[in-house]
Formats: sequence, C-alpha cells, structure tokens
Amino acid sequence: MANLLSYVLFLALRTFAAPPEYIQVWPGGSTLAPGDLGTVGPSLVPPPGTSKHAPHSIIIGVRKGGTRALLEMLDIHPEVAAAATEVHFFDWDENYGKGFEWYRDQMPYSYPNQITVEKTPGYFTSPVAPARIHAMNSSIRLLLILRDPTERVISDYTHHLATTQNTLGTT
Ligand SMILES: *[C@@H]1O[C@H](CO)[C@@H](O)[C@H](O)[C@H]1NC(C)=O
Repeated sequence: MANLLSYVLFLALRTFAAPPEYIQVWPGGSTLAPGDLGTVGPSLVPPPGTSKHAPHSIIIGVRKGGTRALLEMLDIHPEVAAAATEVHFFDWDENYGKGFEWYRDQMPYSYPNQITVEKTPGYFTSPVAPARIHAMNSSIRLLLILRDPTERVISDYTHHLATTQNTLGTT
C-alpha cells in the first residue's frame, strides 16, 4: 500500500513539475521572451517536435462517474496526452462561438505518436453537443464511464448541496 501511494505521488509530482529544460533562458539571463510583459511568469517553450491536436478521443461523461480518475489513469500511458481542464467546447455556446482553433489551443502539446484526450462530462447531457462533435469528426472515439445510478445520483446530489447551500440560504 505504501509503495502504491509513493508511486502515485511520484506520478503526480512528475506531472506537475515543469521539466527545467522547457523553461527558456533568453540572453541576459531572463526567462521572459522579448516583448513578453511577464505577467504570466516564465515562458514555457513546448518540447521540440510537439504540437497541439484536436482530441482523438473525448470522455463525454457521466458526471460523478469517475471521469477524472479515468482521464488520469489514461494519462499515465506515455502515448496519451490529456487536457488539463474540462474544456466545455461543445456544450457551452460561448466557448463554441470561439471556434475550432480556440478548441485546439486548449489541448496539451503532444508528440505525433500520442493520442489527445479531453473530458467534459457535460457533453453527455447537452442536447447540442452530439451534432457538434459529429460535425468536427464523425469517427471520433467517445468514452463513457457509467456508475450505479443510485450511487451516482446521491453523489451528484451531495455535491450539488455542498456547492450551493452557502448561496441559497435556508428554506
Ligand atoms: C477523427 O477521429 C479518428 C479517431 O480518433 C482519427 O483517426 C481521425 O484522424 C480523426 N479525423 C480528423 C480529421 O481529425
């Protein structure tokens, strides 16, 4: 058990610590690119040979079904590049209106042999998402993780309660 925990911790640290070779040092010792105002910290230079791709596969749900765990497990595989946050491109009109280039820009840098995966559980319950995903790529692989319906709805309900009770007050 302790071994497993330290391995998970190792993976987490490896994921979140930026390798120092990706931080570019410009002439004069600055890590800021010329013209960079420096408001977002050091410029991160993508590893050579990588680029951003639209997802090859999307985890579409279900909410409270363990989608985050599924994505993180897949991300351990060296040939998987996972988006860091829920993108909400196909279900939120505001994001969909930003266009496909914006969507691709939300993806992580990946090598040509890697599969890009994003997860947004909201796609499964959105009436507009299926047609939009189909329009982007009609042969894309969709991943759906299910959970016992009663446990899922209790988890959803308690989560909803925990995140809204402070704003709704008592009734
Ligand atoms: C659509 O998705 C499939 C499955 O991931 C992939 O093989 C194909 O290259 C994608 N097509 C485009 C145009 O991105």
